[in-house]
Amino acid sequence: SKITVSLIKADVGSVAGHTTVADELIKIAENNLSEAKESGLIIDFRVFKAGDDLELLMTHTKGVDNEEIHRLAWETFEKAAEKAKELKLYGAGQDLLADAFSGNVRGMGPGVAEMEFTERKAEPLIAFMMDKTEPGAFNLPIFRIFADPFNTAGLVIDPSMHQGFVFEIWDIMEHKRVFMKAPEEMYDILALIGAKSRFVIKRVYPKPGGKLPEDEPVAVVSTEKLYQVAGEYVGKDDPVALVRAQSGLPAVGEVLEAFAFPHLVSGWMRGSHNGPLMPVSFKYAKCTRFDGPPRVVAAGFQLSNGKLIGPVDLFDDPAFDYTRQKAMEIAEYMRRHGPFEPHRLPREEMEYTTLPKVMEKLKERFEEI
Ligand code: 13P
Ligand code: 13P
Ligand code: MG
Ligand code: MG
Ligand code: MG
Repeated sequence: SKITVSLIKADVGSVAGHTTVADELIKIAENNLSEAKESGLIIDFRVFKAGDDLELLMTHTKGVDNEEIHRLAWETFEKAAEKAKELKLYGAGQDLLADAFSGNVRGMGPGVAEMEFTERKAEPLIAFMMDKTEPGAFNLPIFRIFADPFNTAGLVIDPSMHQGFVFEIWDIMEHKRVFMKAPEEMYDILALIGAKSRFVIKRVYPKPGGKLPEDEPVAVVSTEKLYQVAGEYVGKDDPVALVRAQSGLPAVGEVLEAFAFPHLVSGWMRGSHNGPLMPVSFKYAKCTRFDGPPRVVAAGFQLSNGKLIGPVDLFDDPAFDYTRQKAMEIAEYMRRHGPFEPHRLPREEMEYTTLPKVMEKLKERFEEI
């Protein structure tokens, strides 16, 4: 039988501005999901915080987009948001954009990464959670994991991976998607996903005729566009992803290798700046300097009939010290630009801006040249 893994997250309020999730909210989420586990709705769960985002990782057999599972997540966030209001936490209820649950959390504010698949004899799974950035921040690492032979040795030397993978790419402005093959269409794929604020990798699939079923995803990323849902800036759509590994898929180390380069992502302060993505341990999953820099944490598991064996705090390792050091050099370099691009995002990508008001004020003073 198939297992579904659901990683659903929301920022429902945080302590000291947008720094981190309060322990009181973690407790509420753990209690709620414990009850759901006892009732048999879910098989297992873990609650995490990634910066100010409350993360619910759940396993069950109900498939993706299941109403009961989404309701459980929504009601958990609502309960936590109530507590956040009572404690006067910052941005209490920030990502709960709908007044009432209507069957599915998609389009309601929370971010969702879910996949249903046949659990293998050994099923390594990694849950990635980012804060202070957007879904497109996963484009570069997911591409490198499943399509770049300089990252993933297995693409070259493992006969079961040599044929490559299929990428499902979403145009999040036009609400359209396209399936593309790597390595055959590699340059076209990059032409799209290099524009990471518009084209976002949603899922990766095995190719037909391989070791794994072609219709079962091997990676999935949350792509919810908060700002499109709300119609105004309410915080960045801090994304999450699930990645399966080994035996016909990239090894865990090949998956993590893609995060050894602290690439520039948009988000950071006020969701309006470019900065390096820093891989950190859960202990450091809090955003401080200039509300950042943007961070990614990784929890590693083995699945055992839906039970989560783990987590292993995968970036809690000196092997990523060099990346973190590099990230801080880049953070320092970017910060010196102050309000100038490309540290500050271009106008159309800034989540809030005074520019229209400044232009309005200066309207009379602008003269022809
Ligand atoms: P083991 O031989 O330790 O299983 O490792 C295989 C592998 O895939 C390492 O990347
Ligand atoms: P979040 O998206 O993490 O809530 O951050 C918003 C922000 O404006 C940080 O400066
Ligand atoms: Mg916040
Ligand atoms: Mg956040
Ligand atoms: Mg947010």
